[in-house]
Amino acid sequence: MDAFVIQGGNPLRGEIKVNGSKNAALPLMAAALLTNQPVTLEGIPRLADIGNMRRLLIELGVDIEEQPDGLRFQATDESASHARYEIVRTMRASICVLGPMLARRGIARVSLPGGCAIGDRPVDLHLRGLEALGAEVSLDSGDILVKAPAPGGRLRGGRVFLAGPFGPTVLGTANVMSAATLAEGVTIIECAACEPEVVDLARLLNAMGAHIRGAGTPRIVIEGVKELGTAHHRVIGDRIEAGTYMMASAMTRGDLTIRDCPLDALLATWDHLERAGVALTVIDESDPMRASIRIRGTDAIQPVHVTTNPHPGFPTDLQAQMMALLSMASGNSSITERIFPDRFLHVAELSRMGARLFRQGPTVIVSGVRELIGAPVMASDLRASASLVLAGLAAKGQTIVRRVYHLDRGYERMETGLASLGADIRRVREEELPLIE
Ligand code: EPZ
Repeated sequence: MDAFVIQGGNPLRGEIKVNGSKNAALPLMAAALLTNQPVTLEGIPRLADIGNMRRLLIELGVDIEEQPDGLRFQATDESASHARYEIVRTMRASICVLGPMLARRGIARVSLPGGCAIGDRPVDLHLRGLEALGAEVSLDSGDILVKAPAPGGRLRGGRVFLAGPFGPTVLGTANVMSAATLAEGVTIIECAACEPEVVDLARLLNAMGAHIRGAGTPRIVIEGVKELGTAHHRVIGDRIEAGTYMMASAMTRGDLTIRDCPLDALLATWDHLERAGVALTVIDESDPMRASIRIRGTDAIQPVHVTTNPHPGFPTDLQAQMMALLSMASGNSSITERIFPDRFLHVAELSRMGARLFRQGPTVIVSGVRELIGAPVMASDLRASASLVLAGLAAKGQTIVRRVYHLDRGYERMETGLASLGADIRRVREEELPLIE
């Protein structure tokens, strides 16, 4: 396993380009299961999760080829229908093959993804949505088994209210919207997720011949068609990667220009950073989803109250990074997590670096300190890991972040990008650490 060794205190300066969005790419790749025609996706990031999804799709009969203009997917063998536990357990987002496979092949068996470090990850809403399309759902030794009404039959359009106690479901919306594209009749998804990644998926599906209206709003209407065809699509920029770099610049008193920034998907984050006293400038927003922005850090980070919400609210995937930033504010902030109330594994680790954090259920009071102190810490999930790296960049002294494989799931060689901006960070094998510590 790898670790990062970080010597804090260097301001981030320079320019970076945002990569394609992991959370858009995964359901976009799964959409290739909806047709036997080629689907080309440009801008797919090179991440561990993407590699897992490629492995899964190949097992499900999809040929994948690197082309000059992106990755070309084509389902050439549609006989398989089982997403095995060995792959699903490494990436719970594998669940997004369920809807497309059911709609096209009439049957799908996907291992129940199980929980993860940020909490239970139920899929009851996914299943309720597919049942609304006429699917028969059953559990069979740890697998979800879904079948279209009649053997090899078509799903039929229906209405479904697709929200649970924590609001809409992003991948649940992706699954039901994808499946509905091939259903007979009209489907209405009420209280759909409005995330930009859902909008990006709807754009691809419509390019393949689907009839989807309302993506990005709480009500999506899908008019089923008999089949979908070929398309070429460019993945939107990763708003969470962009937000992470914005906070890294703010925390290190940096001066960072971010290119290809999905600014139009980051307005809540922009607002919270402005209120924290960060200097944010738009350089060019001729394409608001591929904008250029400039982020300059400040000596006096102001306290802010943050509550995570479904899009367009403040994103839960930036909660841990925001906590690292507010740990150095000149006053008390509060962070309330409404999507994954247990998403606080970073609290104990940030506290090891001198942050003063007081958890009360889904809320953490952040009592700002003048500076963080470097320490050995342990990454636990993708975004908590990012938060620890940001804290290490800003802290006094050396920070060692272990188990950075969590980070590799969602950030492409983060240490290389940060080092190119002046950070003192390097990747080592964990067995080398005793010599360093
Ligand atoms: C997506 O996960 C993202 N992952 C997550 O990003 C992100 O945190 C999450 O949306 C919320 O924005 C991908 O897109 C691959 P949900 P998803 O279904 O779709 C509950 C990252 O760091 N729920 O929107 O799995 C659920 O427990 C990852 O990149 C049910 O109760 O999340 C949660 O409390 C982490 N029943 C809430 O809804 C269900 O059937 C939102 O979950 C489904 C979800």
